[in-house]
Amino acid sequence: PSAQQQLSRAGVKEAAGLGNTSAFQASGLQRRLPQGIIIGVRKGGTRALLEMLALHPQVAAARAEVHFFNREENYRRGLGWYRQQMPLSRPGQLTMEKTPGYFSSPGAPERIRAMDPAVRLLLIVRDPVERLVSDYTQILHNRRARRKPYPPLERLLLRGDQGLNTRFKAIQRSLYALQLARWLAVFPSAHIHVVDGGGLIREPLPELRRVEQFLGLVPSLGPNNFYFNQTKGFYCLRAGARQRCLDESKGRPHPPIAEQLLEQLCTYFSAHNEHFFSLVGRTFNWC
Ligand code: A3P
Repeated sequence: PSAQQQLSRAGVKEAAGLGNTSAFQASGLQRRLPQGIIIGVRKGGTRALLEMLALHPQVAAARAEVHFFNREENYRRGLGWYRQQMPLSRPGQLTMEKTPGYFSSPGAPERIRAMDPAVRLLLIVRDPVERLVSDYTQILHNRRARRKPYPPLERLLLRGDQGLNTRFKAIQRSLYALQLARWLAVFPSAHIHVVDGGGLIREPLPELRRVEQFLGLVPSLGPNNFYFNQTKGFYCLRAGARQRCLDESKGRPHPPIAEQLLEQLCTYFSAHNEHFFSLVGRTFNWC
């Protein structure tokens, strides 16, 4: 059986309570604490990045967001609980999880360092205005699903004559520099790799090759792993004969935004963006 089949058989056995610890140990299959974590940003393309990396044979990725370092009720459960949330992995594989809520959580950097100061962190960023609109669109969608009202974006962004409502959460969460500074106070910059979320949408492979290198993985992802799907409007994933796109919650259409408001937002973000560029030592082609 292939390594993948062995992994899934062992996983099924374990889930059914038939797993025998020593048999697991002999096969080397274990749940391990992550050596790589995607810490954010929310709506930056965190799911796409994790799923794409999971195509790599050396990567074992947790399926669901774990919210260990940012939620007290989970953190109190301890590292043993956290490890149980991880997938089975073979020796030599890198365990990864993604929880975008970590990036903006004040306690997360120190807690992650306490787990493992050598952990590799990935931060996927996107034009802050696009991220903001994506964030709004997700909340709007969730509210509608629960038949709850949600104001139009313009009303949330503007405070009457007083200009932008900069206290709006979706604006705050796009101020990457303020949040990154807290991580850089705890981790050396060499441990934090920034992924261009816009680049990952336009052409995933170059971004993923840089991530492979950062994580110390054998280069393995190639052009056959991705194909552009016209209907979806995004790249989708291929592993052998299996092809799939991310689900419909990823790549939603965004509501239009008035030109003047867009300019106001760009002006507001520009100094914050410059600060972020100086922190990461690279620039992005944002508005
Ligand atoms: P939109 O739905 O606003 O377009 P996250 O996973 O962090 O929530 O990010 C969601 C965003 O990932 C989507 O935002 C989408 O733009 C982006 N994305 C990047 N690559 C994608 C892909 N191949 N398929 C779907 N969405 C992708």
